[in-house]
Amino acid sequence: MKLLKKHSNKFISVLMLALSLILVSCAKDNEEDLYPPIGDNCNTENVSYTQTVVPILNNNNCVSCHAGAGASGGIQLDSHNAVAAAAASGRLLGAIKHEAGYSAMPQGGSKLSDCEISQIDAWIAQGALEN
Ligand code: HEC
Repeated sequence: MKLLKKHSNKFISVLMLALSLILVSCAKDNEEDLYPPIGDNCNTENVSYTQTVVPILNNNNCVSCHAGAGASGGIQLDSHNAVAAAAASGRLLGAIKHEAGYSAMPQGGSKLSDCEISQIDAWIAQGALEN
């Protein structure tokens, strides 16, 4: 009887180990689905208006449609004040993330990269500073 108990404890330990390995590997799969890696080279810590946000807006033609008095949709993206206002209203992120309820931007162009979106997101989270 004592011997049997010893064996069944061992069996249970092996079973638990196997189960926890399965759980760990499932958890990892889910994490990658929920938070796709944005790449090792994506710097979301040292972001600034002049070094990060302006180049992204220029490289994606945002400014060609969103400058001056006749800016498309009444959204100007050619000055810090205007970009900060679009950020504060939630429209900037809504548009570039293609969220429901916002017009997907850039109009007629392909969606910004995950890294570019994360960098603009980070700049807004850091206070949308004129830096
Ligand atoms: C070819 C011209 C064009 C380009 C390029 C363009 N936009 Fe727009 N954008 C528009 C027009 C037109 C509207 C307003 C009409 C609409 O809402 O569909 C608009 C609307 C918006 C809005 C308001 C969205 C809302 O639903 O409130 C934001 C924010 C915006 N654009 C940001 C951007 C950003 C950021 C880029 C670059 C990644 C960009 N746009 C590129 C033409 C453009």
